[in-house]
Amino acid sequence: MPRRVLWNDPRMNDLARLVTATSLPPSVRISEGRSALPRIDVSSAAARAEIYFQGAHVAAWQPAAIREPVLWMSERSHFEAGKPIRGGVPICFPWFGAHPANPAAPAHGFARVRDWRLIDVREDRDGVVALDLELAGEGLSPEWPHRFTAIHRIEVGPTLRMTLEVRNDGDGAFTFEEALHTYFDIADVRGVSVSGLEGCAYLDTMAGGQRVGPSGAPVRFTGETDRVYLETRDACVIDDPGKQRVITVGKRGSDATVVWNPWVAKALAMPDFGDHEWTGMLCVETGNVNVHTRTLQPGKSHAMTAIIEVRELNR
Ligand code: BG6
Repeated sequence: MPRRVLWNDPRMNDLARLVTATSLPPSVRISEGRSALPRIDVSSAAARAEIYFQGAHVAAWQPAAIREPVLWMSERSHFEAGKPIRGGVPICFPWFGAHPANPAAPAHGFARVRDWRLIDVREDRDGVVALDLELAGEGLSPEWPHRFTAIHRIEVGPTLRMTLEVRNDGDGAFTFEEALHTYFDIADVRGVSVSGLEGCAYLDTMAGGQRVGPSGAPVRFTGETDRVYLETRDACVIDDPGKQRVITVGKRGSDATVVWNPWVAKALAMPDFGDHEWTGMLCVETGNVNVHTRTLQPGKSHAMTAIIEVRELNR
């Protein structure tokens, strides 16, 4: 039976504005996350997950049948209001990377540093929990003053399915970029390969955005890598022999895939990233960025979905 939300702890009063869902299943709890940043904890028969209200940020996900966490989180991440969380799945929206006209505007847009509201939670018979978080408004940033509603639907189960739906509530068209900037926990980036992008050209950020390829081969990593793969429609498969597992990143409504690992120098330069942590992470990001921006007419909406699955090879 779903349970009503009960705000019986005074510290939780502040959180009431973040939750408009009228009931939560017993597998879902609102808690104080790291550094007291409010969080949603999911622990069902199917999987467990941690989701911060700030950024509707999936910080952890682990299916019940999988032995180790799937998403990577930096030990040096900030957990602080207004600062991006380094790991899990940041939402980049409504621009990707630095803002083109204002380098002082938040990198990757404002969505990852705003509080989202939990508007609905459901659990099915198999313990798959679906949570809808909303960010809506007008004029949330001078760089992107449009009226919009964004819903991030997170389905926590043996599969992690995340759908970012954006609706134009204003009177004129708007254009945006978006990405589900997924950090994966891997044994060693120097030993993994990513297939599914062999037939796609990419823009190489390491070479000033120059267009390269297609390479015809799986991606392997020998140095700092920062690429926007274009017209990517297929799933990406991360083969991780060190952890003896395979992660599949499927998608819908997305034309770009960003692949990123900072390697040595950039890791040293980022204050919220451990100096040696770069070996154990890899970002494969589902997006619509760069030449693949989206434009929405008034009243129209667009949905983009990332579908993450994990298979352990020695079980
Ligand atoms: C990647 C970008 O998606 O995110 C990189 O392609 C960037 O260029 C990285 O460095 C991390 O960005 P941030 O803003 O979270 O430090």
